[in-house]
Amino acid sequence: MGKLPDYNKNILCIGAGYVGGPTMAVLADKCPDYRVTVVDINAEKIAAWNSDELPIYEPGLTDVVKRTRGRNLFFSTDIAGGIKSCDIIFVSVNTPTKTYGEGAGMAADLQFWEKTAREILTYAESDKIVIEKSTLPVRTAQAMERILHSRDNGLSFEVLSNPEFLAEGSAIRDLENPDRVLIGSRDTERARHARDILVDIYARWVPRERIITLGIWSSELSKLASNAFLAQRISSINAISALCEKTEADVTEVARAIGLDSRIGPKFLNASIGFGGSCFKKDILNLVYIYRMYGLEECADYWEAVVKINEYQKRRFLLNMLKAMFNTLAGKRICLFGFAFKAHTSDIRESPAITIARGLVAERAQVVITDPQALKNAKWELAEEISRNEVTLVYDPYEAANGCDAIALMTEWPLYRELDYREIYQSMRKPAFIFDGRNLLDHRELKEIGFQVYPLGKPPLTTDGGFKP
Ligand code: NAD
Ligand code: UGA
Repeated sequence: MGKLPDYNKNILCIGAGYVGGPTMAVLADKCPDYRVTVVDINAEKIAAWNSDELPIYEPGLTDVVKRTRGRNLFFSTDIAGGIKSCDIIFVSVNTPTKTYGEGAGMAADLQFWEKTAREILTYAESDKIVIEKSTLPVRTAQAMERILHSRDNGLSFEVLSNPEFLAEGSAIRDLENPDRVLIGSRDTERARHARDILVDIYARWVPRERIITLGIWSSELSKLASNAFLAQRISSINAISALCEKTEADVTEVARAIGLDSRIGPKFLNASIGFGGSCFKKDILNLVYIYRMYGLEECADYWEAVVKINEYQKRRFLLNMLKAMFNTLAGKRICLFGFAFKAHTSDIRESPAITIARGLVAERAQVVITDPQALKNAKWELAEEISRNEVTLVYDPYEAANGCDAIALMTEWPLYRELDYREIYQSMRKPAFIFDGRNLLDHRELKEIGFQVYPLGKPPLTTDGGFKP
């Protein structure tokens, strides 16, 4: 039996984004005897992590950062220094969809990933455990190992797969109480030693039976497959919602009926304007690309349909708005309630609200957007539309709806349920429309107030027998 490496208790995380920041904050909180440093090439982001205004909004995050920052949690731009001093390195850089060359629009862009591998190799002066935290194509660890072992420097690098399952908006809760933690490794003595160190770290706060050790390829693939399954449920219920609208069935009732089967379960069956977020679409497209690489066309088509239904659902929502509002939106003022891709986050990546806003602009509508957390990101995303006065951003929802012909609810922020819709109705042009893309609101009450109400996947409640989808 060869001597096993003796790793120090310094943890580095490369990538200070939605995953790196919260994940390491919780890890530092739970493991006071580890010194955790998070590094990023983006100096502005690191400065924000070191300030009172963190770069992302996530419930509970500020408290954890306040408890740990400066104690055993540090944010820095010194990537080389971090690699030198830390023996346990998480990599949580972004792995977006490739926009160029072979696989453009489908495959994962691994350039940031490969760059970190090369940096680790350049600056490492001791043995390392390198942990894939980013979501990666199955068998990426092999490429990582080859890069890390491409120089004969006498150092050993053990690559583990430890995909992250947090959802934005509930990241701290998910990290503190995960359904499971996957730790994938090779089956060698050194790999098992590295794996056990990571198991011990998580075991500080995660019940041991929820820490699953498995083969490294299974671990990588489990992450892509989990996201595909989750997204598939949403596309399934959204496909049902389209049929509900034609048949006067109610998608909420149908979803409840389906979800009561314990084999199916009630979660992730909320019909919506489509799933957003930085990962579902990119991860499914990546999965589809991998299938095609292996010549598994039928499976590729199957999963690709999940993304197609999602695009269809957004188009369908927009078309329903157009038809309900007398087949013209030109010159009408339409207010979007919410711009974040889901509630409790400022993140707008792949938010369906972006597609809806742009679709409305294409119909020559005037778009007013309100959101409690995401307007800063909206300003950046829609800079051109804003400069052409096609879109305005208004923080206060009452002010935003004032003078509008319609409200379209995009994000299920609880505050939108609490508004005084009588007051809002008074301030709008008539007939006043509400399109509830999340089925969040009290539709009967809205109809009583006088609104023409268009829920999703249920019969519309109109006062004048208007368009039925
Ligand atoms: P992000 O874009 O918010 O953060 C990634 C960070 O990595 C950026 O700040 C970027 O500047 C930094 N970076 C890129 N190259 C670098 C380099 N060479 N050196 C140092 N820093 C570098 O991305 P994210 O949302 O945190 O996602 C990261 C990974 O985690 C992705 O693979 C994603 O699929 C996965 N993931 C994301 C979520 C989520 O909810 N956002 C959940 C689970 C898994
Ligand atoms: C998702 C997964 O839930 C996480 O487990 C995973 O780690 C993460 O992707 C990732 O890999 O990035 P996230 O995208 O942050 O997390 O948020 P979700 O709660 O999954 O919501 C995704 C989208 O689906 C949102 O737009 C949400 O509104 C929508 N959704 C969700 C529905 O339309 N209906 C539902 O029933 C549930």
